[in-house]
Amino acid sequence: MSFTAAFRVPVRRAVFSTSFRRAATEVRANSFRKFSTEVPPPAPKSNTALYAGLGAIAFGGVAYYLYTSSSDTAKEASTTVKSAAQTAKVATKFTPTKADYQKVYNRIAEVIDDASDYDDGSYGPVLLRLAWHASGTYDKNTGTGGSNYATMRFEPEALHGANAGLHVARGLMEKVKKEFDWISYGDLWTLAGVCAVQEMAGPKIPWRPGRIDGFVTHVTPDGRLPDATQGAPHIRDIFYRMGFNDQEIVALSGAHALGRCHVDRSGFQGPWTFSPTTFTNDYFKLLFNEKWVWRSWNGPKQLEDKKTRSLMMLPTDYVLTQDKSFQKYAKAYAEDNELFFKDFASAFSRLLELGVPTQQFVAAEPWIMGDEA
Ligand code: HEM
Repeated sequence: MSFTAAFRVPVRRAVFSTSFRRAATEVRANSFRKFSTEVPPPAPKSNTALYAGLGAIAFGGVAYYLYTSSSDTAKEASTTVKSAAQTAKVATKFTPTKADYQKVYNRIAEVIDDASDYDDGSYGPVLLRLAWHASGTYDKNTGTGGSNYATMRFEPEALHGANAGLHVARGLMEKVKKEFDWISYGDLWTLAGVCAVQEMAGPKIPWRPGRIDGFVTHVTPDGRLPDATQGAPHIRDIFYRMGFNDQEIVALSGAHALGRCHVDRSGFQGPWTFSPTTFTNDYFKLLFNEKWVWRSWNGPKQLEDKKTRSLMMLPTDYVLTQDKSFQKYAKAYAEDNELFFKDFASAFSRLLELGVPTQQFVAAEPWIMGDEA
């Protein structure tokens, strides 16, 4: 058995019946009238949608300018964007319901699993990383960045060093977008993150749609995502800027139970846990229960477990055992999987909503997807 195959763990299906999935696949996107938050399509018989589309584009630019300069006018402007988008929806006579988003979720779940030749047999981890990087650019002081505008579609951001390798995830979602072209990229990518966590046996992540697609002008500067070679002050700078506290930083870091580092993407190499396609608190357990030593190799500084030398930790992961405040939470999560699941779900749900004006969301409270009950 190859090293990679040894890590392959069957993805646990918690909730879905195959019949439900099949039903979802059978409903083809072309049976829907189109709705795109990016550029609302012109209506064949009426000009309403065209005007709405042009309005959305015009107001989108203005809204961004105002959004970054004055909060009162920003509210007004983003409401205008919202109403333009809603007018477009009405004009196209298609307003997606929770059931429509569930169909997208089901399709993403199939894509995640269709990965027999990729990494550990799942696209879940790389999709989760896409959702996180699309959201983690948020700056609470300027209100810029976050998941709203799906700006990683544009080259400046796609080429940011931290996003290396995420073309794989964006490419996978492009196929889903073709099938469900009414969904915005921001909603699609964040829903993929939710689906990845849940389909890899993690907690339910409250999520709701409402993100709109933006423009290249919404791209934020490089350097907003964490640098794995740094220490606690850097981690705090980055996550405090998004509005998170120490407990949330540690909870979110537990996502490294999943996936692996790739030399050709980040320069680092290897998985954090023995089951990189199953969401558990193993990351925290291993951090404390294994002896970690610096790996001697021709690559960036990373740690390896002394016993098997097959697992890795980034310098920023190891800091969670060294910094007093981080350590307190990391230990609590190592000892209590339920607590970790609860705290991760709440922090990750909030992460996915960063940068999205509340009035843009279609529901007052987030939904639980993947729940057939
Ligand atoms: C201090 C904070 C963080 C740092 C420095 C960091 C750094 C990294 C690096 C260097 C990689 C390897 C990329 C590659 O080579 O493919 C990675 C992968 C990953 N990260 Fe993080 N990360 C952080 C926080 C997070 C958070 C908050 C999440 C999600 C909530 C997350 C989810 C993931 C996942 C799932 C992977 C695996 C991707 C794959 O297998 O393709 N990370 N991270």
